[in-house]
Amino acid sequence: MTISISEIFNFNSAHRLYNKNWDISKNLIEFGKCSFPNYHGHNYKLEVKLSGKVDINLGNTISRNKICDIVNKEIIQHLDHKNLNIEIPQFSNLIPTVENIAIVIWDILNKIFENKYNLEVKLYETERNFVVYKG
Ligand code: NI
Repeated sequence: MTISISEIFNFNSAHRLYNKNWDISKNLIEFGKCSFPNYHGHNYKLEVKLSGKVDINLGNTISRNKICDIVNKEIIQHLDHKNLNIEIPQFSNLIPTVENIAIVIWDILNKIFENKYNLEVKLYETERNFVVYKG
């Protein structure tokens, strides 16, 4: 019997989609206004999903407090109100697309949560687009 628990978090970050190896016009073709030089922001919504068996003593899979403490400390404090390109080392050579942000988040959290939880990360960049990453 496997059950999944999800927690939702929000953070606001600035970014710019830009490939350093291309000139401005090639970046404009590929990324449109997302490549404008002065950055822009998104209100990201993050869903962290963990799956597992219900512990007979606790009545849960993993405590919500534990999930929230870890995600707030390791992800939200790390990314919220930051410029991803400039301030976050993981993006110094990685374009901060919603795909890459989700992968970075998963990599950080997967080092902390035990493998048995089959961590899944869903990241919304807008209300209309999101990605799902399970490693
Ligand atoms: Ni954007």
